[in-house]
Formats: sequence, structure tokens, C-alpha cells
Amino acid sequence: MTNIADILEAQLDAVSLRQLRLVADAAQVDGVQAYLVGGAVRDALLGLPVGDMDIVVVGLTAEFARIAAAALDARIAKHSQFNTFALDIDGKRIDIAKARRETYARPGALPTVSPADSIQDDLARRDFSVNAMAVSLNAGSFGELLDPLGGRGDLRRRLVRVMHDGSFRDDATRILRAARYVVRLGFSLEVETERQMMHDAAYLDAISGARLRHEFVRVLQEGRAVSTLDMLHRLGVLQAIHPALTLGDRVLAALNRAADSDYGDKPALLLSVLAYGMTADDRDAFADRLRMTSNWRRILDDTGLAKSRVQDGSSVGNMPRSEIYLRLRGLDEAAILGCALCADGTSAGRRLMLYLDELRCIKPILNGEDLLALGVPQGPRIGELLDELLEARLDGQVETRRDEMNFVRARLSCISC
Ligand code: CTP
Repeated sequence: MTNIADILEAQLDAVSLRQLRLVADAAQVDGVQAYLVGGAVRDALLGLPVGDMDIVVVGLTAEFARIAAAALDARIAKHSQFNTFALDIDGKRIDIAKARRETYARPGALPTVSPADSIQDDLARRDFSVNAMAVSLNAGSFGELLDPLGGRGDLRRRLVRVMHDGSFRDDATRILRAARYVVRLGFSLEVETERQMMHDAAYLDAISGARLRHEFVRVLQEGRAVSTLDMLHRLGVLQAIHPALTLGDRVLAALNRAADSDYGDKPALLLSVLAYGMTADDRDAFADRLRMTSNWRRILDDTGLAKSRVQDGSSVGNMPRSEIYLRLRGLDEAAILGCALCADGTSAGRRLMLYLDELRCIKPILNGEDLLALGVPQGPRIGELLDELLEARLDGQVETRRDEMNFVRARLSCISC
């Protein structure tokens, strides 16, 4: 049996290694078999940094989770319906799950779960061979690699491969997962897996909105999200999620500009670019299909508004700066930037960038206190005058503090006349 303890020692940081040893001790105390599984094994074998760790225990009990949590000085953050425990250790997460079999009553249903007697059964229910390897954590066999489905060979061949024909039918979210791994790891799709992805994309219809959104967000969060979207589009998967999710050359170019920008919330920005070409009805249907949260619905809605409000066919100079400001004020920032990236090189694009780079930061020099001191009566007139001052400043009618004071005085005398 291959032992990869040396690889774990090289790839895991000292804290994670110590945590694995503590889990192993807890397994010894409780007389159960514990394994490191899934992405951590895959990434360790690839020489990549290992993120969150998933541990599977054959015959896991709540008692084991308590012993492990105490040994790790961790909090049991979550106990789910599938007999899994999430341990939170200073913000880092270790998932401990009971080895299980899964069957699917119908495509897209949540699996019916039953305990597995062996780690092999648990590995066989997983998505791809490269994610279906386990490493024993128990004393005496620490580091032994269990690879019944040929995951290591696929890592060497750099292939993402499903392990049975019905995998995508059972759980079509795996179609999105496959594209994420291929692009992230620089792998290829095994030929039959690719064929099944295209063929089974229709089963995405059976996936609940919330699960589909979760996987879609994970696509947008990938470091190479645009290539992942492009691959999903080429395979017809994006269109299966919603027919308006089409990536022509212009959309791809805008997505790449979004990915290259230094905007902090990339998923929000990519979403806006994807929504730019959609009709209002399509945006609503897309939001409904993914049961989007109010934040994301707002990005979609504001993308439609920002796009339409700066488009009038005239050149950038013909819309006063205050007008641009008033039309865009309060709209979601990612939505405005997404539209600007899509409308790059047009007068609409220039207006949107002008707003983001300059107009939205402009404030009058005078404040409410100053207006009171100038004799403006307390009440709504203060706010109105501040707005008027802002517009005057945006349009270059006032520059200095004195200009602003004169502007206010003129407005006041106008009130009294
Ligand atoms: N898994 C699966 N089918 C799914 C989701 C997950 O078989 N639809 C299994 C895979 O073995 C996967 C493991 O559960 O490796 C953990 O899932 P997740 O944390 O989503 O995957 P990671 O491989 O850790 O992925 P990532 O690197 O993207 O976090």
C-alpha cells in the first residue's frame, strides 16, 4: 500500500498536521477508522496548498465528534442532517463526516443516505476519481493512500473523470464542479465525462434554485472564473441554466476586463456583465431560477437601470455632469462598473466611468451648518440647497467656497423676491 505521510508532511502546515494527529488519537480512543478525503488529498498529491480538510470516519458517533472537538480545542460549529460535524478552530474549518452510501430517488433529489461499512463505499459515491481518494489517519497506518477508483492515475494523466454513467444525472451540480476543477487545475475532461456533461446538462433543471446558485457562485469565485464560464458555455451548460446566458465575443471580452480589474467583489462584477445583454424579463427569470438573494437581484436590476439611463445615443458632452450623477446616484457600484466594461469605448461607457471615477466623489464645500449660518432656515430647504449646490459644482458653476456662498445667497434672495 502506498504511503504518502511524507507528502502530507511536506504539503500541510504544522498546525494542520498536528490537527490530523489529534483526530487520529481521538479515533484510537473511540476505536474507529478516520481518513482524510477529497480535495485535501487531491491538492496534497498535486503539490498544491491544502485548504479546508474533510475527514471521514467509518462508524462516526456524536461521541467521537465530541472527543475530537475537545482534543482540537474546537467548537462544533454545525451538525448537519447527514451526520457530519463542522469543527471551527479559530476560523479554520474541519468537516468530520460519517462514511456513507448515497442513493438518489430521482435526478437532482438530495441523496438518501445510509451508513457505509467501509471507506471504499464512501469513496465510490463521490463526484470524480481525483476527489475519491482517502488517506488513513490511524496510528499504524497513518499516511496510507486508499485509491480504489484510480484517482492518482487520473492526477498523473491530468484528467477529471466521473466514476459512473449516472453521476451527473444523480447530481447535475457536478457538471459545474467538473468545469471548475478542469480550469483550476489545468486538467482536461476525460472524453466520456465530457460527453456526459453535455448530454446530462438538461438535468440541471432538476436542481433546486438554492443549490444551483451555490454552485454558480462557486464558479464566479474561481480564480479563473471566465475560462470556467467559457468552458460551461461551450458545452451548452450555461444555456441549460438559462437560455439568456450566452457568451458572445463581446461578452467574453467584457468578462475578461472584469476579471482583470482590481474591483474587490469579482463575482458581483461578473454577474453584472453576464446580465448586461439580457432583457428585463430574462434577468427576472434568471434571478428566480437561482433563487437569488436580494443583493444579487439588486445587481441585476441596477445593471438594467444603469445601462438604460446613460444610453441616449448622444456624445458624452451632451449630457450635463449633474444629469449623469442624478441618473446613476444610488445604483449598485458593481452594476455600474459591469455596464461600463460592457459599454467600453462608447459614450455610455464614458459616462459610467466618469460617474465612478469622479462624479460620485464630488461634494459641496459648504455643509448644513454653513447654510444655517448664512441664514437658511432649519428644515427641508437645507437639503434642497445642498443638492442644488452639488449640481452646480458638478456642472462647474461653482469652484471656491466664496462661489458657493454667493450661490446660496443668490438662491436665498430669490426666495424672498
Ligand atoms: N463531493 C461530491 N459530489 C458533490 C460535492 C462534493 O462527491 N456534488 C465530494 C467530493 O469528493 C469532494 C468532497 O465531497 O472532494 C468535498 O466537497 P467540496 O468541499 O465541495 O470539494 P473540494 O474538493 O474540497 O473542492 P474545493 O477545492 O473547490 O473546495
